Amino acid sequence: MSSEKSLFRRKTIAAILQNPPADHEGHASPGGLERHLTVRDLTALGIAAIIGAGIFSTIGKASLDGGPAVSLLFVFTAVACAFSALCYAQFAATIPVSGSAYTYAYASFGELAAWIIGWALIMEYAVGNIVVAISWSDYFTGLMDGIGLHIPLWLTMGTQTGHAGYEAVQTLVQSGKTLAEATAAVSPAQLDGYKAWMMAPALSDSLHLVIDLPAFLITVAITALVYVGIKESKNASNLLVLLKLIIVFIVIVVGAFYVNPANWTPFAPNGVGGVLKGVSAVFFAYIGFDAISTTAEECKNPQRDLPKAMMYALIICTVLYVIITLVLTGMVSYKELGVGDPLSFVFAKVGLSRLSGLVAVSAVFAMASVLLVFQLGQPRIWLTMSRDGLLPTVFSKIHPRFHTPSFATIVTGFFVAVPALILNMDLVVDLTSIGTLFAFALVCGGILIIDPYGKSEARFKVPYINGQWLVPLILAVGAWLVVRYNGVNNHEFMLDITGQRGWIEHDALSGKVTGGFAHQIPTLVFFLFCVGLAVLSFRKRLSLLPTLGLLINLYLMTELGISNWTLFFVWLLIGLAVYFGYGYKNSKLGRTPELVA
Ligand code: ALA
Repeated sequence: MSSEKSLFRRKTIAAILQNPPADHEGHASPGGLERHLTVRDLTALGIAAIIGAGIFSTIGKASLDGGPAVSLLFVFTAVACAFSALCYAQFAATIPVSGSAYTYAYASFGELAAWIIGWALIMEYAVGNIVVAISWSDYFTGLMDGIGLHIPLWLTMGTQTGHAGYEAVQTLVQSGKTLAEATAAVSPAQLDGYKAWMMAPALSDSLHLVIDLPAFLITVAITALVYVGIKESKNASNLLVLLKLIIVFIVIVVGAFYVNPANWTPFAPNGVGGVLKGVSAVFFAYIGFDAISTTAEECKNPQRDLPKAMMYALIICTVLYVIITLVLTGMVSYKELGVGDPLSFVFAKVGLSRLSGLVAVSAVFAMASVLLVFQLGQPRIWLTMSRDGLLPTVFSKIHPRFHTPSFATIVTGFFVAVPALILNMDLVVDLTSIGTLFAFALVCGGILIIDPYGKSEARFKVPYINGQWLVPLILAVGAWLVVRYNGVNNHEFMLDITGQRGWIEHDALSGKVTGGFAHQIPTLVFFLFCVGLAVLSFRKRLSLLPTLGLLINLYLMTELGISNWTLFFVWLLIGLAVYFGYGYKNSKLGRTPELVA
């Protein structure tokens, strides 16, 4: 088969760089995007994307499981993300165009992998934004309640959530309980779902109009903003970030006065296992530093500024996260932190109800800015895929006046706003994390392919450290630590692989710890992969940092449970069907042999 017909056809970097309309003067070229973003804007965009639902919400559950030691988990996860960030930064410096990890995969692994990663990124950006829109709605509804404006319950949650609450109550009633007993027995969230279902207009016996209207409306509003221009989006984002940072500082400074160091003992009440339960929630809190790479064509100097901005954003957020965790777990006992709004909760708890309200308001802004960055990123990835012929040309249409990818922006809005009306959050959180980790792993692997020995001429490159001995050594130490400190899990693991616990699942993100052999399949595959990579590193002297990045991302993926893997594979299969039905035949690379590497 000729190389341009191959599924692994790779694009030369020179060809990728020619792809966007040439414009490096800071002006819009006909049909091109406008270059407005400086390192400060990019850092702000990074922070805008990072600080959101993670720190305002999921940190609560992580602290409940892990205690104050979750602050160390934030450091560990930041280091893990830093490996990926370094690789993203090198790619961004080498190939400064809008497609982010998709483009990087095109140059390193070839077209099929590029398509797969582009498809997986939909999970990070569009699906991730469904999560953020739903959390935004929760905070917003709470705030409105706080000022006496009650939105009808059936307009504040997804159809799935309403139906689940109704089902929970019905099941109890069918088991012989009275309605009063059943409604008293379910959780507050289920009770709300039940009430919403009963109050909502019935479309049929089995379908009531329970919808998350605020989540829909905020998505429409942010999409409209992103549609009218990068400059407007940048200004809005900078403002939101400033507000967000001010509030985070207030939380830290005021909270520090209420810290009781006795709350920090015990530091890790549930041991390493308890701390590690928070891995996915903490990882979710860091998602976003990579999103700024999608604005490469709108940066004044992407090669210099993108790597810097990613690192600055990551460092700033890590410092803030660690301090916030210490403050939270110092103000109240970790046992009380299992709530959806821990940052405002702790202030209400120490009697500062005004400040508590202020924090809730800031959460609404924080989430809006996360929505903005991801709503900006998704169309730009589609734009790049469309230019390559893998998606219809309408996805690369640039608005003549606003200079934004207009059609792709509208499709993104639709793709996020409509599911946000209906879906329950748990499922979408899991899918976001698995898709993002997959993208991060491929970006780290991509650096190992295009520049395994750090010889690139790019303005930024991952420092080369010879991994010949260090990779096997680190893996051996890691394995020892797991055996040494994860004793309970090892016992469970043995029960699982010997089939003594049946086909049950463990879901790291939602915290439903159950177990089951199926869950161990990703772990076993990961173990074999580690052995293979240790051998390869030894023989080929692979660069240490991208190798560690690859391993850590894959490890975190193994923590996400087999049900998420199954959904992920289904998603990938749909993607493959689209690729073979459209992209493979229409790919520019397939028709232009001179672009093939
Ligand atoms: N890091 C982002 C958040 O926590 C996705 O909302």
